[in-house]
Amino acid sequence: MAAATLVLVVAAVLAWNVIRLSRSTARSAAGPAIPGLPATAPLGWNSWNAYGCDIDEAKIRHAADALVSSGMRDAGYRYVVVDDCWFSPERDPTGQLRADPARFPGGMRALADYAHARGLGFGIYSSASPQTCAQMAGSYPGSTGSRGHERQDARTFADWGVDFLKYDWCGSSADAAETVDVFAEMRDALRATGRPILYSINPNSGSGVAPGDLNRFAGVATMTRISSDVVPVWHALGGEAGMIGVRDAVDRAAEGKFSCATRPGYFCDYDMLAIGAAPMVVDGAEIPALTSEEERTQLAMWAMWAAPLMLGNEPDGVSARTLGLLTNRALLAIDQDPLVRPAAPVRGGDGSLWTRPLSDGSTAIALVNRDDAPRLFSTGLTGLGLPLSRRYEVADVFAGTSRAQSVMLRVLVAPHDTMLLRARAVS
Ligand code: GAL
Repeated sequence: MAAATLVLVVAAVLAWNVIRLSRSTARSAAGPAIPGLPATAPLGWNSWNAYGCDIDEAKIRHAADALVSSGMRDAGYRYVVVDDCWFSPERDPTGQLRADPARFPGGMRALADYAHARGLGFGIYSSASPQTCAQMAGSYPGSTGSRGHERQDARTFADWGVDFLKYDWCGSSADAAETVDVFAEMRDALRATGRPILYSINPNSGSGVAPGDLNRFAGVATMTRISSDVVPVWHALGGEAGMIGVRDAVDRAAEGKFSCATRPGYFCDYDMLAIGAAPMVVDGAEIPALTSEEERTQLAMWAMWAAPLMLGNEPDGVSARTLGLLTNRALLAIDQDPLVRPAAPVRGGDGSLWTRPLSDGSTAIALVNRDDAPRLFSTGLTGLGLPLSRRYEVADVFAGTSRAQSVMLRVLVAPHDTMLLRARAVS
């Protein structure tokens, strides 16, 4: 009897431990949402900012060709993503999604093949709601969002050879827990296909997910949009919920308004690059596009944040200067640094000085001038986390120069410009 009781007690303790272990494993599962993808952020091109719903297969093929011929693919811009409005407004009788027959007569599989043949990954768009955002806004007909069709659509995407899914929240507000569950459904459907499809989600458009709750998507998606749409302007167009400019993004990050859990395999998405984009026209008036200083600021800060770099410009007409910026190898090395530790603003500062530790022990430093006049930065190296006992070689990423540096860093930065440095201890 005593022996039998002992066996029962031991079995109960073992069972409890197994339950406890599996629960804590599920909770602490810090693994990637979709296995088999790189540890660093994706780079590529997305159709939305340049074309909106006005897309067709010739434009997408052309964008793929431009990525190759411009040298962008070889610099790392590997994905070509077709955003909203690629589909026929209604599903077929079996519930299957179809490409719009008029604008994509060759179908999406052929387009994926076209991208793959050029060494590119192929991306597509859908939404976690019955209608996509363009359908909800009334700018595209029909009702073809993936809500309720997650498994079927994930299989379709995998069959077509899709490598990247941009998945938008276009519904009404929902609480964070519900939003996480809905996005997790598509994650599980993607996982079930066995194809490593990068899962890029936007829970931010109208969902009401508070910034503090955005970290809940680590483990649910590969990358999560944390900002409103960034447009090619320096400063605000439309307030809190509306579109934001490059300076607004930096301001918000400095104020801690983007809660962000970037780590290897998971990335906060600050939205697409506005670099090289055509000027916006608002109420009939053209707003000048980003200046080269402002372009440098966007690229420098996105790289400091280890963020995805998705181009939103028309594939042609990128100036040699902008192309040089986008393919700057020293800048891309910071963005793609394998440590994947995003920059933080220097403590006690005004959000204009940022540092980021890199995998070789060096430190990336961004000095952002958000003012409309030149700004002299004068800062001690210790304030940047660099011990005075060492001597440093400091590379200026945009100028392509480097110099020895000790004790104080004094630099003049033009209005709206950013100086991006990489400091390496040499003694
Ligand atoms: C928005 C999103 C844009 C684009 C658009 C398509 O919610 O922020 O990047 O995807 O939907 O309708």
